[in-house]
Amino acid sequence: MRQKLLLGNWKMNKTPSEAKAFALASKDMVEYAVAHHIQVGVAPSFVCLATVKENAPKDCIVAAQNVNEHDHGAYTGEVSIPMLKEIGIDWVILGHSERRAYNGETSEACNAKIKALLANHMTPVYCCGESLDVFEKGETKKFVAEQIRTGLADLTPEEAKQVVIAYEPIWAIGTGKSASKEIAEDTIGFIRRTLRESFGAVAMDMRILYGGSVKPNNIASYMSAEDIDGALVGGASLDPASFQGLIDGMLQK
Ligand code: 13P
Repeated sequence: MRQKLLLGNWKMNKTPSEAKAFALASKDMVEYAVAHHIQVGVAPSFVCLATVKENAPKDCIVAAQNVNEHDHGAYTGEVSIPMLKEIGIDWVILGHSERRAYNGETSEACNAKIKALLANHMTPVYCCGESLDVFEKGETKKFVAEQIRTGLADLTPEEAKQVVIAYEPIWAIGTGKSASKEIAEDTIGFIRRTLRESFGAVAMDMRILYGGSVKPNNIASYMSAEDIDGALVGGASLDPASFQGLIDGMLQK
């Protein structure tokens, strides 16, 4: 059975004091989620990771939004895996469409980072998803399959099993125009079949999230799809009351 997962991607939002306030306010909702077998977490900016880790309940996943694949060296502005590990961070989001668009992150670069994380027993959350143009041309599956194959290239099935996938159609991110349940279900089912071709039966154990304008009032519909194991949420994850609404919505399905 794949455990349900709700992850908040805070992107470039919240100062350390704001992030700490959320962490302190999260105790009851994290306990509530865990009691209902839902794993929850947030991905703050680098400068907020330590304070969120210190002040959130221990069951709350705290994820970074990127990492460098090198352990140390002359990489100005970068953050390494040992730096994250020392402050107790063992989840990292990779390949978000915003990083692909604004920072030139490629699937090949994500592959190197995924391998480095797995070698350190950390959990990558690998994002994929197509632009509106690709969607309108009907090429979503071809595009997403390429991102998945390249991002997860050369992994063993046992390694692949540790990776969480997030399908986030770019046209649905921050637009309020969420993909319909049918579209999300269709693409995520296809992603699972693609994983199965590469990694065999472990694909059935891999968690695949939907992301893109997920809100407390629409999350239940995604969760009712068999292949969708949870959500990666931006805007609606920033406020504790809204985050609680997402948990409640997940339980409604
Ligand atoms: P929104 O939920 O704000 O659309 O963002 C989705 C996202 O990009 C999560 O990584």
